[in-house]
Amino acid sequence: MATVTKLKKFFGKKAKRPARPDADGVTYRPLRPLDERIDSWRVAIDDDRQRAMYDRVAATVDGDAYAALQQKYRDEVEVSDELAVTKYLDLAPWFMIHSRLARLLDIDKRARCSILDIGAGGGQFLAIAKAHGHEVLAFDQPHPPVYGDLLKLFEIPRIEGSVKLGEKLPEEIGRYDLVVINGQVFDVQPNDRTQRWDVPQWASFIEYLCDEHLTYPGTLFIGLNKSAGPTGVEDFLWPLVDLAESHGAAVERKRATMVFDLTEPLRFDEVDYEPWREIGTR
Ligand SMILES: C[S@@+](CC[C@H](N)C(=O)[O-])C[C@H]1O[C@@H](n2cnc3c(N)ncnc32)[C@H](O)[C@@H]1O
Repeated sequence: MATVTKLKKFFGKKAKRPARPDADGVTYRPLRPLDERIDSWRVAIDDDRQRAMYDRVAATVDGDAYAALQQKYRDEVEVSDELAVTKYLDLAPWFMIHSRLARLLDIDKRARCSILDIGAGGGQFLAIAKAHGHEVLAFDQPHPPVYGDLLKLFEIPRIEGSVKLGEKLPEEIGRYDLVVINGQVFDVQPNDRTQRWDVPQWASFIEYLCDEHLTYPGTLFIGLNKSAGPTGVEDFLWPLVDLAESHGAAVERKRATMVFDLTEPLRFDEVDYEPWREIGTR
């Protein structure tokens, strides 16, 4: 018997979903009508440019295809609600959050460019970029399926794979004008999930990305995530933010975001690190 069916039997068909918000304070409602959700979240946006980007991406969503996705994930949502990855199905809060990022990166004003999103998730940021005429590519793991289904909804291509310490990304990825890493968790060490990459490991990865996957002039965006780790509420890796700032990144400390506008690859000569491809081999 499928897990969902078993749980339904256990809790009863009418088992009430928890109404608590997620850790970020958002109560996700992935099964509500799209228009209702888009209207509700629109009022939370004060900035005109951000609202215009939100409106533009919302208008690109195929309503029938979206309703079919809601139907596909109905059971999963009803059982585990907002703490599961199905929260990404509720497009409106993500369009709001990612239109803020799009505003930060001038997605509405940039000349048409190529954008790679590493750990793209459901692709809501790339959907905004695509709606503004940019050429976009997602790189992410194949699971969970809801990410792939959302990318299909937005008609965004994805190369599947994982960032792994010291390993090259797939050759076919190529180079981009803008590389985005937002809310990522690939720095959680797979053999010890209580550990995340340290500053030298990040410095090594950033140099590798600059050398292999950026064009110049180009932009690298990194927005840290503190939700993974032993307690789920670890602090951001502030020494990395400090290092980024000392190398010219525009830093927003509220969300630990870093924007590097670059004319040449970054070099962190003051950091004692191993080159990306040599990590663990010395
Ligand atoms: C918290 S979600 C963020 C998704 C998206 N960037 C956003 O801002 O909405 C973390 C993402 O990292 C991806 N991820 C986790 N481990 C990864 C790895 N080793 N390599 C690449 N992506 C990974 C997950 O699949 C997921 O898409």
